[in-house]
Amino acid sequence: VMLSQDELKKIAAYKAVEFIESGMVVGLGTGSTAKHAVDKIAELLHTGKLKNIIGIPTSKITHEQALSLGIPLSDLNKHPILDLSIDGADEVDPQMNLVKGRGGSLLREKMVEGASKKFIVIVDESKLVNHIGGSGLAMPVEIVPFCWEFTLKRLEMLFIEAGCVGKLRMKVGNGEEIYVTDNGNYIIDLYFKKDMGDLRAASDAILRLAGVVEHGMFIDMATTVIVAGKLGVSVTNK
Ligand code: A5P
Repeated sequence: VMLSQDELKKIAAYKAVEFIESGMVVGLGTGSTAKHAVDKIAELLHTGKLKNIIGIPTSKITHEQALSLGIPLSDLNKHPILDLSIDGADEVDPQMNLVKGRGGSLLREKMVEGASKKFIVIVDESKLVNHIGGSGLAMPVEIVPFCWEFTLKRLEMLFIEAGCVGKLRMKVGNGEEIYVTDNGNYIIDLYFKKDMGDLRAASDAILRLAGVVEHGMFIDMATTVIVAGKLGVSVTNK
C-alpha cells in the first residue's frame, strides 16, 4: 500500500503522542502534522486513556482547534516549564536543527518549545535535508511592520555572499494583502542561493537587527525527531 503524505504525517504524530503521560503540561504545535497530534490527544482524553493534560498552544489556530476538542488549555505565564512539546517542521537536518514557520507561527512555537523539557519533532521523510536553509525553500523571519522594506534590505545584506533574496509574505490566494502573524507582525521569507554558513552566526546576526522579532531556525532545540517514511517510522533521540 502506498501511504499518502498526510497518512505519514499522521503516523509520526500518533507515535509522538505515545510519549505523553497523564498529568503532563504539553506544548501543542501548529501545522498539518501537529494537527493530527492534537486530534489524538483529544481522543485519548475523551476515552480516559490520558488524564489531567494541560495544553499550551503555539498559535491562535491550534488554540481554536484544541478548544473545540475540549482539551484543557493554559499559557506560559501559568506554566513556564512544559514537560513535552510536539510540533512539525519544514526542514530537519542530521543534527536535528530545524526550519519552521512556513505556516507563519514561528515566534510562539519558539517560546513554547524553548520552555519544554522535551521537544518532539514530527515529520514525514520529505522534510529531511542535509543543510537547513539550503534547500532553496524559504527561511522565515518575523519582523515588525515598521519600515519593513528597510529590514528586508538589511536582512539581504547580511547574507549578500550567499545570494540571499528576501520576500514579504503575502496571504495565500490573495497576492494583494500582506500576511500578518498572530502577534501582529510581518514575515520576510529569505531564499539563499548558497549555504548561509555557520547557523549560530547566521542566527545571531539576524537577531541583532533591531526590526527583527525572531527567525525560523530552531537550532539545538529538538530532543527527539520522529520520521515517518515509506519503509516505516523511526524515533531518534538527541
Ligand atoms: C508553522 O508555522 C510551522 O512551523 C509548522 O510547524 C511547519 O510549517 C510544519 O507544518 P506542516 O506540518 O504543515 O508541514
